[in-house]
Amino acid sequence: MSLAVCPGSFDPVTLGHVDIVRRARSMFDEVVLGVARNSAKSPLFDLEQRLALAREAVAGLDVRVEPVPGLLADFCRQVGATAIVKGLRGAADVDAEVPMALMNRHLSGVETVFVVGDGALAHVASSLVKDVARHGGRVDDLVPPGVAAALATAFPARPTTGATS
Ligand code: PNS
Repeated sequence: MSLAVCPGSFDPVTLGHVDIVRRARSMFDEVVLGVARNSAKSPLFDLEQRLALAREAVAGLDVRVEPVPGLLADFCRQVGATAIVKGLRGAADVDAEVPMALMNRHLSGVETVFVVGDGALAHVASSLVKDVARHGGRVDDLVPPGVAAALATAFPARPTTGATS
């Protein structure tokens, strides 16, 4: 029985993440989407919101969504992971991901499998999506519907100021 963990901070989950999870599901018997904390980032959404949005996003894909309370390597051991699956959009992802893959293998022996996602989603990153939403741009074609609604609540549209006389 093979089990992959797809980890991330998922702040928030995007269609790019869902694409990678779907690809992981086609390669592994079981997939667990692990919502973790990235200590380099301050999340917009709290853990409960990120879990709820991720659960809604992968509903129907037969994927478990669980919090990763501490080290990803410990979580992988606890759930009996065969592999960690991460998506690659380009060279910057390789630079960021290879040290993490090496550290996770050092800590737990678990290998990381890199999957290239849909090229049409290569520009989709949670940080960019939040920035676009914060400035009133459209994100509904980049994220699941529940995430689009949560971003609209987090960043309510501001009335445009008219010219003053
Ligand atoms: O989506 P992100 O923010 O790029 O994901 C990074 C994440 C959350 C997977 C990474 O920060 C992580 O694994 N955090 C859990 C704590 C941990 O194991 N840190 C050491 C990573 S080598």
